[in-house]
Amino acid sequence: MSGSPEGFESQVAVVTGAARGIGEAIARRLAAMGMQVVLVARDKARLESVRAAIEAAGGKAVAFPSDLRDEKAVAALGSHLREKHGRCDVLVNNAGIGKTGKPLHETSIEEWDDLMSTNLRGPFLTIKAVAPLMIERQSGHIINISSLAGKNPLPNGAAYSASKWGLNGLTYSVAEELRQFNVRVSVVAPGSVNTGFGGRGDGFKEESWKVKPDDVASVVEMLVKQAPQSFVSEVLLRPTKKGS
Ligand SMILES: NC(=O)c1ccc[n+]([C@@H]2O[C@H](COP(=O)([O-])OP(=O)(O)OC[C@H]3O[C@@H](n4cnc5c(N)ncnc54)[C@H](OP(=O)(O)O)[C@@H]3O)[C@@H](O)[C@H]2O)c1
Repeated sequence: MSGSPEGFESQVAVVTGAARGIGEAIARRLAAMGMQVVLVARDKARLESVRAAIEAAGGKAVAFPSDLRDEKAVAALGSHLREKHGRCDVLVNNAGIGKTGKPLHETSIEEWDDLMSTNLRGPFLTIKAVAPLMIERQSGHIINISSLAGKNPLPNGAAYSASKWGLNGLTYSVAEELRQFNVRVSVVAPGSVNTGFGGRGDGFKEESWKVKPDDVASVVEMLVKQAPQSFVSEVLLRPTKKGS
């Protein structure tokens, strides 16, 4: 049973960072459940290929290329949802960047700003764009993809870790703000996921011990299927075996 009284076929989902990795897997899963999925990332060509794959599998998707660091672009996403769809049932804030591998004192101000504006300010902007629509309809689910680095220290990744600790605090607080409107806000914090994240794109190879993007998609599916009177507020998703 879904959190909404209607079926998933009438629902609209937004997935940020849908061009590859975890976001692509989540977008494909929500489309397979019947939702129309709005795919957001900067890389227009990759978004188009995800859209084509979803449609080839019988799903519905639209590509909405945007840079989430740009508040005008995110406001335009909100206007698009209102004008073209009149609703947003699910928002998955998945887009994020890594930039780990050095101590904080060697991290440049530009790297700090880029991390914070993508990983923390981005979800702030998308929630600002979408929450009013959810409140009007008294229905919605916001799912923020954080990290176990937002629950633990991450030496040589302090700025990334801080952005995800911040995202957790944002999630817990917004959940309290929006529950009165029947809007659920959850956070998923995975450990190492097998993607090209954080510059692992070149020479990236499968590592079987890691969480798979599809495993994160399964958690998102479970969250949106939760019966309406309750919600899972936080999921920590760990690889079963520890990596070397
Ligand atoms: N992989 C892991 O081990 C792991 C573990 C825990 C948590 N996570 C979190 O999971 C999320 C997804 O990670 P992933 O592994 O799937 O990474 P990924 O393969 O690098 O994908 C990141 C996605 O975010 C998009 N993105 C980045 N900056 C953006 C911006 N300014 N505007 C719009 N879109 C932007 C990218 O598309 P464009 O470049 O085309 O914009 C891409 O689609 C991140 O939030 C990450 O922190 C990952």
